[in-house]
Amino acid sequence: MAIALLLVVLASTIGIHLVRVSEPYIHDVLSLRGDSIRGKAIFQINCAGCHGIQADGRVGPSLQNVSKHKSEVGLIQQVISGQTPPMPKFQPSPQEMADLLSYLEKL
Ligand code: HEC
Repeated sequence: MAIALLLVVLASTIGIHLVRVSEPYIHDVLSLRGDSIRGKAIFQINCAGCHGIQADGRVGPSLQNVSKHKSEVGLIQQVISGQTPPMPKFQPSPQEMADLLSYLEKL
């Protein structure tokens, strides 16, 4: 019984570890310090067409206070996954993503 329990604990620890290392990109982004001024510039070029120049919504929804209902990882996944068309899949460098994140969190 104790061994079975140990195996379960071990398996779940390894599971968590695998998820972390399989997302090195997210890990990189979160380890960088973002610059919201650069993030804003990246936003205006790539995102404002749909989300509005003030991120107040056009084709895409307003992003004001978006960090209140989406986590950092959720925001990164939203940008890189392409899972909610028509929003395209973006491939910013980790630094660009960190900058973008820092801007989104200030909205
Ligand atoms: C072609 C239009 C388009 C572009 C360009 C676009 N988006 Fe979006 N975005 C959308 C749409 C539409 C949704 C709503 C998707 C859904 O949930 O169905 C969305 C959703 C989002 C959300 C989630 C909003 C919420 O309330 O949960 C975030 C965050 C976001 N976009 C950020 C960005 C960022 C950052 C960029 C630029 C890198 C970007 N988007 C570029 C159309 C776009």
